[in-house]
Amino acid sequence: TTDPQTNKPNIVDIHTHMYPPSYIKLLESRNTIPLIRSFPGHPEPRLVLLPSEVPLLSNPSPSHPPGRPLTEAYTSLDAKIAFMDKHNISISVLSLANPWLEFLSTSPDPSSLLEPALRINVEFEVMCNQHPGRLYFFGVLPLHPENTLCALPLVLSMKMKFKHCRGVIIGTNGLGKGLDDPDMEDVFEMLEEDDLPIFLHPHYGLPNQVFGERAEKGEYGHVLSLALGFPMETTVAVSRMYLSGMFDKFPKLKVILAHGGGTLPFLAARIESCIRHDGYLHKKEKEGRGKIKRSIWEVLNSQVYLDAVVYGEVGLKAAIQASGERGVERLMFGTDHPFFPPLEEGEEEWGSVVMNTEAVNKGLGEGSKEARMVLGENAIKILNLEKP
Ligand code: URA
Ligand code: ZN
Repeated sequence: TTDPQTNKPNIVDIHTHMYPPSYIKLLESRNTIPLIRSFPGHPEPRLVLLPSEVPLLSNPSPSHPPGRPLTEAYTSLDAKIAFMDKHNISISVLSLANPWLEFLSTSPDPSSLLEPALRINVEFEVMCNQHPGRLYFFGVLPLHPENTLCALPLVLSMKMKFKHCRGVIIGTNGLGKGLDDPDMEDVFEMLEEDDLPIFLHPHYGLPNQVFGERAEKGEYGHVLSLALGFPMETTVAVSRMYLSGMFDKFPKLKVILAHGGGTLPFLAARIESCIRHDGYLHKKEKEGRGKIKRSIWEVLNSQVYLDAVVYGEVGLKAAIQASGERGVERLMFGTDHPFFPPLEEGEEEWGSVVMNTEAVNKGLGEGSKEARMVLGENAIKILNLEKP
């Protein structure tokens, strides 16, 4: 697929977020993270999301308040479409950004998540209807520790109700105990049955303590949590899922990993080696008490897909190689919009997006079949999108 007028490849962005109006209202009403708050001397309200921002929230610096400015890029569909047009993106698969509805899962009543989840999915479907052919979305699930089956009616109706839904976005927490939690099996089963891929996305990063006091004071901005904490979180989550045998139990379940799989492409062989040389696992297998049926490589080239949000050639090539002989068919371009915006006024092109497109064009050859696959054709096939 190439645009006949510009001869440029049609780009599909599968990693692009929004906070629809009902979600913004929720955040405005809160006083623990995630929240929206104004700080003296700063005209724009700020969006405070991450656990790493908590220390700064209780003791905000007047010059550098916590969070990020809540610009219209986070909330406005017109802004999303303008961004897409600016960057030659034909189709976007929208998703609610982190932390989804996880903060409601502490409510004693599991059904309290149903209404907001349903409302948000409806808001996304309505947005998609406003721009036929250009928008799809990953829905949000009402995951509550007390009741996995409360997600059931929503999932079962997703494909019927929401014509543009192409999967679900979930965090690494699952129902509160991670993705290796046996209670997640109900959820995975529903998703496998409905052929709804999971888009697995981080939110928690690593404990603040890992990054030290200077990070806690805000000295390094968001760099350590976003560059390192996020990808490690994803890596741990998917490794736990693998070790627990979830991929073997649900062999048709598809999982798209954010940020090129975190660090999984680099660490897969080490994981494999640690498994093969683990005394406990070895004994368990000998006694016939469970064996992981397939290597992590086999899972990577059958059930896992990676986005191409890695910002450079080295990571991109590792992600492709890790995904098997036909790995280039398993990567899908993304931008992570509206995060990582340009910081100077008047900059219209997003440098973070340019880094990701250049990684593809340089790594795979501008205009090559492979570049076109990663930039858009793979997503069209894997997510069953209509060709532009
Ligand atoms: N920061 C976030 O909180 N979420 C993203 O998706 C990217 C950056
Ligand atoms: Zn993201």
